Amino acid sequence: MTPTRLEITCPDDWHLHLRDGDALASVVAHTAQRFARAIVMPNLKPPVTTVAQAEDYRRRILASLPAASRFQPLMTLYLTENMPVEEVARAKASDNVFAVKYYPAGATTNSASGVRELSRVYRVIEAMERHELPLLLHGEVTDPDIDIFDRERVFIERHLMPLRERFPALRMVLEHITTRDAVDFVSGAPANVAATITAHHLLLNRNALFDGGIRPHNYCAPILKRETHRAALLQAATRGDTHFFLGTDSAPHVREAKETACGCAGLYTAHAALEFYAEAFEQVGRLDRLEAFASFHGPDFYRLPRNEGRVVLERAHWLVPDEYPLAGSTCKPMRAGESVAWSLVQPAAY
Ligand code: DOR
Ligand code: ZN
Repeated sequence: MTPTRLEITCPDDWHLHLRDGDALASVVAHTAQRFARAIVMPNLKPPVTTVAQAEDYRRRILASLPAASRFQPLMTLYLTENMPVEEVARAKASDNVFAVKYYPAGATTNSASGVRELSRVYRVIEAMERHELPLLLHGEVTDPDIDIFDRERVFIERHLMPLRERFPALRMVLEHITTRDAVDFVSGAPANVAATITAHHLLLNRNALFDGGIRPHNYCAPILKRETHRAALLQAATRGDTHFFLGTDSAPHVREAKETACGCAGLYTAHAALEFYAEAFEQVGRLDRLEAFASFHGPDFYRLPRNEGRVVLERAHWLVPDEYPLAGSTCKPMRAGESVAWSLVQPAAY
């Protein structure tokens, strides 16, 4: 029988977009209610490329939090071909920077400053391997000749396998995986390789892009894949494998930027993130494994203490609003106007 109440160690979100300024102020509380910590992505405009910029950004996040919140942003640097090798040592020495993020140039939102040629950042990656600073990878090729649904698989073959050969001790996280190929690669790798899985890739397949018409709010990068891949992700997340942990990739965009001729990639899921994961785990009768995926595997990989607080979910439906405020406009969240099966009844510690 399905439990109706779920109490777990307070989870963390190991992949999150908080944006900046008014947008940051609009969204951060949703995450702080559900998670004790989050790895904050650096794809701002301009990108966060130095420890000094990351420290400033962190202060702006802390200043945007609800008064009593103890939420901790864990900062990352955006890897560019111009990153000096010394920045790695500075990151390692800082108390607040935990990883470096690799975006292939052109792969997604604000990725224009990303890497065009991996070999140009080998010196930085070598320093990361030495300092044991994790490299977080947006694992897609951007070659226009490659079918958009194959971008992740081809990235693994062309770039990830050679990278692992060259830097066997590098700690890396393949972010927001979407394919069986990624599941196989990561589960077959040693413990210095891990992956995050989003709630939307666990709950939706590519049919959700064309459900009675084109659905721009379900467009994200990497794009949703076919059902066999979704099933492989759900298997990986729920089988207790320590390689896999929670990373929402919640990515708010104002409605106008999604509902347009060339819409931005990203789903906003922070408003119900943990509740969505509970739905996914419940689908395969594995709610008992949610805590390890959401609250243990991530801190263990990042060598951080597990959280001490608890959160409680109850199996009670609630209706997601049609929109949330976002930086003077609005954002249409995942499941807008529809119901979610789980409710957060005891949020993360305040
Ligand atoms: O869908 C996505 N949105 N994927 C990403 O990699 C970036 C993100 C964003 O920043 O909007
Ligand atoms: Zn992301």
